[in-house]
Amino acid sequence: MKLILLGPPGAGKGTQAAMLVERFGIPQISTGDMLRTAVRDQTDMGKKAKAFMDAGGLVPDEVVVGIVRERLQNADCDSGFILDGFPRTVPQADALKQSLSALGKDLDAVVSLQVDTEALVERLTGRRSCGGCGKGYHIKFDPPVQDGICDSCSAVLIQRDDDQEATIRNRMDVYHEQTAPLEDYYRQDNLLRSVDGMADIAAVQDQILRTLQAD
Ligand code: AP5
Ligand code: MG
Repeated sequence: MKLILLGPPGAGKGTQAAMLVERFGIPQISTGDMLRTAVRDQTDMGKKAKAFMDAGGLVPDEVVVGIVRERLQNADCDSGFILDGFPRTVPQADALKQSLSALGKDLDAVVSLQVDTEALVERLTGRRSCGGCGKGYHIKFDPPVQDGICDSCSAVLIQRDDDQEATIRNRMDVYHEQTAPLEDYYRQDNLLRSVDGMADIAAVQDQILRTLQAD
């Protein structure tokens, strides 16, 4: 299964990708997670990316295209992968096509999660993630058993720096300007599958699985 999860900030890409990883045993490739790790570790790439991420803008194409090209060559991608948050611009989508074709691979589907803007803001302001293992939560829609503590590893839950309302609005604008055109891009390739992302987490997963089986 070679899949892209497309959708605005807070649409549920990371949440659904984690469930698909469990089910299919293929890796999740999240450029956001990779960039956040680079920022935390203060690598050269992290230093370059930080200001763009803090402002809710996109990191330059050449930076992310390079890390994904390299990641796709890992042996764990041989039986498939889930791209989460990449591609985000038409040049990134073109570069992905080139990388996959060089590896003799084709995408199976691009699942686009559709969620209303106000629901996205509520999801992002209430999002928490584990500072230890990275597991995601929501204070209302997917709370941990004990407030502020990870169910899996008992580490403290944290809030992402870019989940402040002003930055969230900027990320949404950037999505509409630069990433939404990819829906048409992949519709033309007959790969686009729209899924109603407004349902609860388990119901969205069911819809994604049904869409993939229908292929
Ligand atoms: P990235 O980390 O990719 O952020 P994003 O696209 O803004 O998406 P999010 O991770 O915020 O949302 P999500 O769709 O994963 O939602 P989640 O499942 O967590 O990118 C961050 C930054 O890195 C970018 O702004 C950019 O600067 C840079 N970057 C990354 N990739 C790049 C690229 N390719 N090019 C250039 N720059 C790049 O869910 C959100 C919350 O909602 C959670 O709390 C969850 O529990 C809850 N939730 C999920 N589903 C549901 C549901 N169905 N019902 C109720 N609640 C739900
Ligand atoms: Mg995410």
